[in-house]
Amino acid sequence: MKILLTGHKGQLGRALVPLLAQHQVVGFDLPTHDITDRAGVLALVRDFHPDLILHPAALTNVDGCARDPAAAYRVNGMGTQNLALAAAAVGAELLTVSTNEVFDGRATEPYHEWAQRNPSNAYGRSKLAGEWYTQHLLTRFYIVRTAWLYAPGGRNFPHRIIQLADERGALQVVTDEVGNPTYVADLAQAIVALIETHAYGIYHLVNAGAASRHEFAQEILRLSGRADTPVEPITLAEFQRASTPPPYAPLANNAGAALGIRLRPWQESLADFLERTGYTK
Ligand SMILES: NC(=O)c1ccc[n+]([C@@H]2O[C@H](COP(=O)([O-])OP(=O)(O)OC[C@H]3O[C@@H](n4cnc5c(N)ncnc54)[C@H](OP(=O)(O)O)[C@@H]3O)[C@@H](O)[C@H]2O)c1
Repeated sequence: MKILLTGHKGQLGRALVPLLAQHQVVGFDLPTHDITDRAGVLALVRDFHPDLILHPAALTNVDGCARDPAAAYRVNGMGTQNLALAAAAVGAELLTVSTNEVFDGRATEPYHEWAQRNPSNAYGRSKLAGEWYTQHLLTRFYIVRTAWLYAPGGRNFPHRIIQLADERGALQVVTDEVGNPTYVADLAQAIVALIETHAYGIYHLVNAGAASRHEFAQEILRLSGRADTPVEPITLAEFQRASTPPPYAPLANNAGAALGIRLRPWQESLADFLERTGYTK
């Protein structure tokens, strides 16, 4: 297949590149390529004529999105619109990567693929716009929602927790935000399996099981040999930040599982990640 891969320098993009070695891949990332440049996107897509546009690129700094919702909408909403229009122009498939933050987090059980979307922050609203353009401008699309990604070398939660534990020796972490910690290496494998199926639709691809940020932090510290670092439980209300995350927003993988695409339990993946990145003491 000929694949245009947006955001190939990001956490997920970097993990996808080696798994797509048997395909002809062109990367599309800042600063040389910008998904908000409608004419540039269309020209490149017309020239390369991909079979599939694989689209993880996004403004992923949720607090930055809260401070500048227009920029979030421009990149995550209209950038995705540009890719969907270009895909339509050449008859390509589009796979848009989305987020559990399209849900408001007031559920009592993990969100199914068919659950009602109702984002409560600027990042979630901008990603919902990206989903909307994908869904309404194309018939051959995948929307892959995921959550709480971490990868080697990324700006992510395990990295931050270990850094703070080593610098400060004690942490405060929220108990009332629940999601699915997801190892990017596992997600990338699942996406590569999904694009082979041509079973277009909406997917929830996350590592199995859910955790609060506090439980996630404790497991990071335990598995990395830092179990003696005290972690004080606090609430979202006590933790000042620009964006308000959905409090309970784990995703349930039904559609992927029906195709045999399942990610392993998050604790197993986290142990693997910490081992591979040399974070274990
Ligand atoms: N990270 C998470 O916890 C998480 C959770 C749920 C869903 N997701 C979704 O999963 C996807 C991948 O996330 P990730 O963690 O791999 O993101 P990431 O590491 O932030 O990578 C995103 C990439 O997109 C690039 N990009 C940003 N704006 C662009 C533009 N206008 N044109 C072209 N490229 C642009 C970024 O470049 P710069 O670095 O130069 O900005 C970066 O290389 C995203 O769609 C995200 O919304 C992520």
